Amino acid sequence: MAIRFPKRYTVTAALPYANGPLHIGHLAGAYISGDIFARFLRLMKRDVVYVCGSDEHGAAITLRARKEGTTPQEIIDKYHEQFKDTFQRIGISFDIYHRTSSPLHHETSGNFFHTLYDKGKFIEQEAMQYFDKEANQFLADRYIKGTCPKCGYTEAYGDQCEKCGSSLSPTDLINPVSVLSGATPELRSTRHWYLPLEKHSEWLSAWLETGMINGKQVHDPKEWKNHVLGQCRSWIETGLQPRAMTRDLDWGVDVPQDIEGSEGKKLYVWLDAPIGYISATKQWAEDNKKDWKKYWQDKETALVHFIGKDNIVFHCLIFPALLQAHGGFIMPDNVPANAFMNLEGNKISTSRNWAVWVHEYLDEFPGQEDVLRYVLIRNMPEQRDSEFTWKNFQELNNNELVGNFANFVNRTFVLVHKFYKGKVPKFEEEQDFVGARGPMEDSFADAELMDLYDVLFEMREMIYLYDFRGALNQLMRISSMGNQLLQFNEPWKVNETDPHRVKAVMNCCIQIVVALSVACRPFMPFTSDRMRTMLNLPPVLEQGELLKVLDRLAEGDWLVKPGHLLGEPAHLFSRISDEVIQTQIDKLHQSKKSSEMTVAVSDKSSETIEFSDFEKVELCSGKVLEAIKVEKADKLLKLTIDIGSEVRTIISGIAMHFDPATLVGREVVIVKNLAPRKLRGIESQGMLLTAETEDGKLGLIAPPVGWPVGCPIK
Ligand code: MF3
Ligand code: ZN
Repeated sequence: MAIRFPKRYTVTAALPYANGPLHIGHLAGAYISGDIFARFLRLMKRDVVYVCGSDEHGAAITLRARKEGTTPQEIIDKYHEQFKDTFQRIGISFDIYHRTSSPLHHETSGNFFHTLYDKGKFIEQEAMQYFDKEANQFLADRYIKGTCPKCGYTEAYGDQCEKCGSSLSPTDLINPVSVLSGATPELRSTRHWYLPLEKHSEWLSAWLETGMINGKQVHDPKEWKNHVLGQCRSWIETGLQPRAMTRDLDWGVDVPQDIEGSEGKKLYVWLDAPIGYISATKQWAEDNKKDWKKYWQDKETALVHFIGKDNIVFHCLIFPALLQAHGGFIMPDNVPANAFMNLEGNKISTSRNWAVWVHEYLDEFPGQEDVLRYVLIRNMPEQRDSEFTWKNFQELNNNELVGNFANFVNRTFVLVHKFYKGKVPKFEEEQDFVGARGPMEDSFADAELMDLYDVLFEMREMIYLYDFRGALNQLMRISSMGNQLLQFNEPWKVNETDPHRVKAVMNCCIQIVVALSVACRPFMPFTSDRMRTMLNLPPVLEQGELLKVLDRLAEGDWLVKPGHLLGEPAHLFSRISDEVIQTQIDKLHQSKKSSEMTVAVSDKSSETIEFSDFEKVELCSGKVLEAIKVEKADKLLKLTIDIGSEVRTIISGIAMHFDPATLVGREVVIVKNLAPRKLRGIESQGMLLTAETEDGKLGLIAPPVGWPVGCPIK
C-alpha cells in the first residue's frame, strides 16, 4: 500500500513550451487535472504545493523565433506573460508559475548537472552528429528535416515524424536538410555527456511494477494508470539506451564552465525542464518562508506529476533515473498522465490551426470559464483519447449545468425567498420530517443528508485515485438528488397544507446547496464563489472546508443554521443557443482553411508532379507469406511478400496497427522499384501501400479480391 496519507504533496503540471498559445488540449491534458487535485487537497486541509512554469529552452523556441523573425527572448517573454494570464483567467490555481529562464533555475539545473558529473553518473562519448557548414553549427534534432523512413513523409523532423508519429533520430532521415540554411548537413564528431539509462533499467522496472525501491514500498502500482505503465513497459522491453544530456546549442542552460569541454554546450532540454519543478518550488518556498527540501526530499511527501501521454517516458523513466542518480530525492508517487483530446474528429494541431484557443474562448465566453472546465472534465482523456465537439459542449451546458445544477440551486433560492423571505427555515426534527419523502426508496428527508455524506465520500475516494470524471459524476448526483427531493415533495403545491414538511424539505435543500458550493470548487471554482455570494457565506478559501463538511455531516450537524439570511438568487449558468455554437464551428473551419492556404502558397512547387514522374513508380500486387516483429523496434514488422516473379522482404512501420498473425495471407499493393535500404540491419526491398485517417487509423491497400500476385497496378 502506498503512503495513503502522506504528510504533504508536491503536485506538478508539465511546463508548457513558451512557443504558442494554450489550447483546450493543454488544459484537458495536465492543467485542469492538477488543479482539481491541488484544490481538493487544500479543501481536505492537506499540505500541498502546486507548481508549474514556462519551459523556455529547447529548439521549439528558437525555431519559433526564426519563423517570426525575432529573438528567443522576445518569444518567451511574450508567451510566458500570456500563459500566466490565461492560466489565471481559467482558474488554474498554481501556487507558483515560474520560468526556466530565471537565474534561480539556471543555477539549480547547472548544479544538478554538476553533481551528476562529480558522482561519475555520466559517460562521455564521441558521436557523429549533423553539422550545418553554412550556419556553422551543430543541428538540434528539430533543425533537421527529411523523409521519414517509416512512412515516406518528406517533412519529418530529426526527432519525430508528425505524420506517422514515429520517434526518429536525425540519422534515420532520408535526404536530411538543415532547417537553418537549407543545406545538406554533414556528419561531424562531437563530444557529449550521456546518461547510461540501460544501467537504470532494472531498478526502474522493479520500481514501476512493484512500487518497491531499495527494499521499501514507496507507492502502490495498482493505483497507476494502465496506459502509463504499458508505455513504460514497452520502452523498457525495447531496451533503454544511453541518452545525451548535453547539446551543441546557443540557447539553454550552460554546462557548468569549470567542467572540461563545457564550451558551447548546453543542457539537454529534457534534463533542464523537469528540474524546473524543483526551482519553481524553491522560489515558492523562498517567497512563503517554507523549506523546499521538505517538498522534494522528505519520504513523507507524495510527488505527483500531471502530464500528457507524450511526456510519459520523461517523467516515469528519465527524470526518476536522474533524481536517483543525483541522490536525496523522492520518486514520484504517481504520474496520472492523460491521453489526448481530439477536436471535432481531428487531432488538435497548432500548425494547422485546428484548435480552440483558451484566451479566445475567455474573450468570447465571458463569465463562462466553468462551462469549459466542466466540459473538459466530463470528457477528460483519462484512460484513452477523447473528443471535444461544440455540439456536445452545448448539450452538456444546457442539459447538465443549466438543467440539473443551476436549476436545483435556483429553485431552492426562489422558494426560500418566497416562503421565508430568504431565511433558512427552522423545524422540529421529529415531527416535521414525517411525510417528507426523499428520492430514495422509502427514505425521508433526513436520510437525504446521510446520502449526501455517502456521495461526497465517494467523490473524495475517486479524486484520491485520480478518477476525476467519476468524481464529477458524483458531484452531479448531488444536485440530481436535490432536484428529486423537490420533485417528490412539490413544496410549491403543498406549502399551504403541509408547512412543516415544506420547512424540512427546504432546509434540507439549502444544506445540499452549501455542500455543493464547497464540493464543486475543485471543478468549478468560479461557480463556487458565485454560490457563496448567493448564500451570503464567506468564499471558500480552500483551507479544509470539505473536510469540515464531511465531519459535520457525519455528526449530523447542519452546514448552515436555521435563521441564516440568504442573498439574492442569480443564474449560475444559462442556455447556449445554436447560433453561438454554429459561430464557433464556422470559425474553426475558417481558420483551418486560411492556415491551409498559407501552407499551399508556400509549398506550391511540391504541389504537383508530372505524369512522367508518376510513371516511374512501379506498383504491383502481392501476398503476405510471413509477418514477424523486428526485434527492439516496436513499430516495425518484417514482411515476406510473394510478388509472383520473386519473394521480397519489406520492413514496414505498421507494427502498432496490426497483429502480425492476421497479416499472413493478406493481399497487398507494393512499390516494386523503390531503392532498397537497410532498417535495423535488414534490407527492405520495397514499400507497402497504406491509407491513413486523420486520427491515425491505418488500413492496407489491397488489389481486387482474389487477384493474382505480381500484376502491375497503374
Ligand atoms: N515542454 C514540454 C512539453 O510541452 C513539457 C515539459 S515538462 C517538464 O511537452 F517536466 F519537463 F517540465
Ligand atoms: Zn513517418
